[in-house]
Amino acid sequence: MDRRHLLKSAPVFAAGLPLLRTLQHNKPSPKPGVPSAGPDPEPARPVPSPRDFPDPERFWAEMRKQFLIPADEVYLNNGTVGSSPWPVLNAVFDGYRQTERMDQPDPEDYPIWGYDSWNEFRDPLAEFIGASRDELALVRNATEANSYIANGLEMKAGEEVLMSDQEHPGGEQPWNLRAKRYGVVVKKFQIPRPPRDGDEILNRIHDAITPRTRIIFVSHITTDTGVVLPAKQIARLARDKGILSAFDGAHVTGMMALNIRDIGCDFYTSSPHKWLMAPKGSGYLYMRADVQDRVWNTLATHGWDEPQLKAQRFEMFGSSNVPSLWGLRAAIQLANHIGLDRIEKRHRAMADYIHSEMLKRGAESWTSPDPALRCGIVTVNVPPVKRMALEQWLWKARKIRIRGGEPSKLRLSTPYYLLKADIDRFLTGFDDFKKGLNG
Ligand SMILES: Cc1ncc(COP(=O)(O)O)c(C=O)c1O
Repeated sequence: MDRRHLLKSAPVFAAGLPLLRTLQHNKPSPKPGVPSAGPDPEPARPVPSPRDFPDPERFWAEMRKQFLIPADEVYLNNGTVGSSPWPVLNAVFDGYRQTERMDQPDPEDYPIWGYDSWNEFRDPLAEFIGASRDELALVRNATEANSYIANGLEMKAGEEVLMSDQEHPGGEQPWNLRAKRYGVVVKKFQIPRPPRDGDEILNRIHDAITPRTRIIFVSHITTDTGVVLPAKQIARLARDKGILSAFDGAHVTGMMALNIRDIGCDFYTSSPHKWLMAPKGSGYLYMRADVQDRVWNTLATHGWDEPQLKAQRFEMFGSSNVPSLWGLRAAIQLANHIGLDRIEKRHRAMADYIHSEMLKRGAESWTSPDPALRCGIVTVNVPPVKRMALEQWLWKARKIRIRGGEPSKLRLSTPYYLLKADIDRFLTGFDDFKKGLNG
């Protein structure tokens, strides 16, 4: 059947959110004799409004239905990638339906495929993260954005970048490449497991700075343990010392409040396909206006050397998948519709719950006792449980996805679409696995 007949768009939000649409889902009839690959995703329904649900758990249960993750699956690995819900997917489909008609009025209308300022997408994002359009380049992900910084920043051999011992490869490796090729020096400080408070981290950064340090590059939230670094204080420390500051905020956008201007850093990168539930491949690079002339481009087509383009210079990378930006914009609208403060509160409540339950089970916490240093990712160490054995058993026996690290670290992400009952299912699964070990 023609997909267009399956998709009947209808506005589901109040006026002001016209791009978010619901999907009238007609189930294709199964072929006789062919086993179903699994339950069909829940048909999308109007996106609920928090004000219609005085009981928050009921509101989140309704929101859960906007996601394609099957109802019997518990997905605690949002830290790797989130899942795009129907309103985001439908915006992407709308983008394709419009652009693939190839009937743009201007035959030279390349902007729809790339080479554009993309202001209709940059502007809502800029507002959402506290930046200005001219400091924002829409790229594929944090890895790409980090690479633009590491590859492009003017630095001499022997000059240092200071980072933590918990950087993701997509943050650290671009600097290792630069070090191997051009002789800049990568220095690291250690983040305690867990850090007691922000000062403990700040002191370690302070002590690791040398006269050759040119840039501090750290995760705002680390991939390794989910610790939230005191970004504003780190940026101030850097500024006071005449050093640049860059934050890899892959996890931050959509997980918690973010105002880049308020942080006062020089660079910020992110992957909204994690916690903002945007389509995969919709990342951004923030570059403060005053530092843009110190950064060379990495990819070059026309525009690479035109400073008047400002941050748009870093979007000049040829044809690309513009409909994904429709999804990014819809993801921002969805977060605004729910309310980012409500989302953050939910992330924190669920993370605190799973954390305290794991501690009751004797886990060692690598999550900070300071609430300012944690949000939606909890990390615990659970020897003698082997994380890989647990991970595989939970998935096969219980359809629960978690992610860990060798030998016994569990990283538990608590996105807003998880219900308390989902977390309880994980806890029961963990208990049963441990009983099996002992029994
Ligand atoms: C802190 C951090 N930076 C970068 C990345 C890489 O993200 P992406 O693959 O979207 O570039 C991740 C992924 O988990 C991450 O946690």
